[in-house]
Amino acid sequence: MKSVQISENIYWVGAIDWDIRDFHGYSTNRGTTYNAFLIIDEKITLIDTVKATMKEEFYSRLTDIVKPEQIDYIVVNHVEMDHSGILPEVIEKVKPEKIICSKMGKKALLDHFHQPEWPYEIAVPGEDISIGKKTLSFLETRMLHWPDSMFTYVKEDKILFSSDAFGQHLASSERFDDEIDQSLLLEELTKYYANILTLFSPKVQKLLESVAEMNLEINMIAPDHGVLFRSRPEFAIECYDKWSKNVGNGTALIVYDTMWKSTEKMAKHIAQGLVDEKIPYKLRNLQHYHHSDVMSEVLDASAILLGCSTLNNGLVPRMAGFLMYLRGLRPTNKIGAAFGSFGWSGEAVKLLNEAMEEMKFDIIHPGLRFKYIPRESDLEQCMELGREVGRKIKEEL
Ligand code: FEO
Repeated sequence: MKSVQISENIYWVGAIDWDIRDFHGYSTNRGTTYNAFLIIDEKITLIDTVKATMKEEFYSRLTDIVKPEQIDYIVVNHVEMDHSGILPEVIEKVKPEKIICSKMGKKALLDHFHQPEWPYEIAVPGEDISIGKKTLSFLETRMLHWPDSMFTYVKEDKILFSSDAFGQHLASSERFDDEIDQSLLLEELTKYYANILTLFSPKVQKLLESVAEMNLEINMIAPDHGVLFRSRPEFAIECYDKWSKNVGNGTALIVYDTMWKSTEKMAKHIAQGLVDEKIPYKLRNLQHYHHSDVMSEVLDASAILLGCSTLNNGLVPRMAGFLMYLRGLRPTNKIGAAFGSFGWSGEAVKLLNEAMEEMKFDIIHPGLRFKYIPRESDLEQCMELGREVGRKIKEEL
């Protein structure tokens, strides 16, 4: 297989995973890529590697340009196994002069592969490494999204190798942003941020501020997943800036699970109340929508309404799982309200409220709970809840 030239003497040597459908709980319906890059210079430098299952494709593209033993330096921007799974084998073949990684990267490599004798070189922000005609500099990006994460910047080409940041789980024959459908790109960029980076939004803001202070010129962003931003790197940065500020877009998202359709009936009447206030909404029954797709919609929504029947004094399992996922990613600055039908004990609304309190949602109503099948007067209360949420959204716009 052939490599793809992305700049003068810089090549993509990654692998395309068309078949992956689950990335530890993230539904990757369009597959993904593991991007690795090779710089041909006086010191031939490999940036990142690929998942162990994709090694044949990687070696095939790499050896299109060089023999592994010709490589001098290996840069490890991130130690997670989708980028380092074949690293021990590659190091064995390459016998690199340097393995360049962050301070935390060295620790993570030691904890993964237990090889203290590897030739680690700690990348220090502000201290460049010359590889000949090209110069590498490094950005500390701790917790974006692992402690070891860092970015590598090639000064002469103005390319930012951004590891997982700005990635998309998208398998495609195309390698660049201008070659694919733009709505598809935005959908997958959004889903990636929502499911991987929401929790780290304050750190994303700080990083973007420091990139602006550094006056870093960026001609291309080359993430480790999906396509490379060569035509509009600023688009990716603007999206991250917007999402990391947690500003709602004036819409509501109703997420629910239902046993005998009573909670669903409540959800639909709440939706009618939102329509009365001219607020766009989405209705997501967790029986039909994957939690990682719903998470994309959580990212932009101004209000989240959670509905659940009570089952065995608790939540229906799909909602319990969704809440666990949501609390882990901790979206902020959301208006919240809960609702649900019950038979005799009715704890679900209380549990939903507790979860929203923990995430510091602005809970604007104590929650609606009705026994078995809601009456017409109960459904009128649901519509009024929708209208109340709608008015609150408009107030905050
Ligand atoms: Fe693509 Fe955090 O690994």
